[in-house]
Amino acid sequence: MNELKEILIFFNEMGAEFLHVPEKNPRADLAELNRSILQCRQCRLHESKTHYVPGEGSLQPDIFFIGEGPGQTEDQFGRPFIGNAGQLLDKIIDKMGYRREDVFIGNVVKCRPPNNREPLADEVEACLPFLHRQIELLAPKVIVCLGRVALNKLLGTNHSMGRIRGQLLSFNNIPLIPTYHPSFILHKKAREEISQTKREVWQDMQKVLAIIAKQRQ
Ligand code: URA
Repeated sequence: MNELKEILIFFNEMGAEFLHVPEKNPRADLAELNRSILQCRQCRLHESKTHYVPGEGSLQPDIFFIGEGPGQTEDQFGRPFIGNAGQLLDKIIDKMGYRREDVFIGNVVKCRPPNNREPLADEVEACLPFLHRQIELLAPKVIVCLGRVALNKLLGTNHSMGRIRGQLLSFNNIPLIPTYHPSFILHKKAREEISQTKREVWQDMQKVLAIIAKQRQ
């Protein structure tokens, strides 16, 4: 197939008028992908959701933040990370020197699991191809997995976030840094624990920034 494509491109470059080699158009492909997400009926979650939450942001992002799945507020408005956890994520993004619209924010599953339960294996299996395609089309410089579920569902692993956070991993040759989910910080009660977890997330985000800076050199 690739060979055929190369031959067609060669003839096209030689000026052959009988050939039309379509340009790659990630924007159109992403729009089509969004349409597929908004029509998906592959698992039970589409029955209980209010809105699909496909994800949003820059179509050429430096960073793709990936969470677990929409919560109540996200389900209500069809947008990712706009509740309490989202407000904390916005602050992190801001501190990194980005605006929310400069990055892409999405989730492993695009419909809210009832009562915010963890997505089930068959729901993840049904939804994961959408995330894979988003990553392929967006081609971010770095992926940040927010929390254990996002990381392990994307990589098919069983890491503990306490041990793996901040380590440089990769998905399809794209650098990937796992860090705590913002909700993990919000659920902490003790002041010192909150500060410690925030410090660790910030350390992880500095690694993300260093990877991006290195790619720019
Ligand atoms: N938590 C997530 O994992 N994703 C969202 O979109 C909101 C909260």
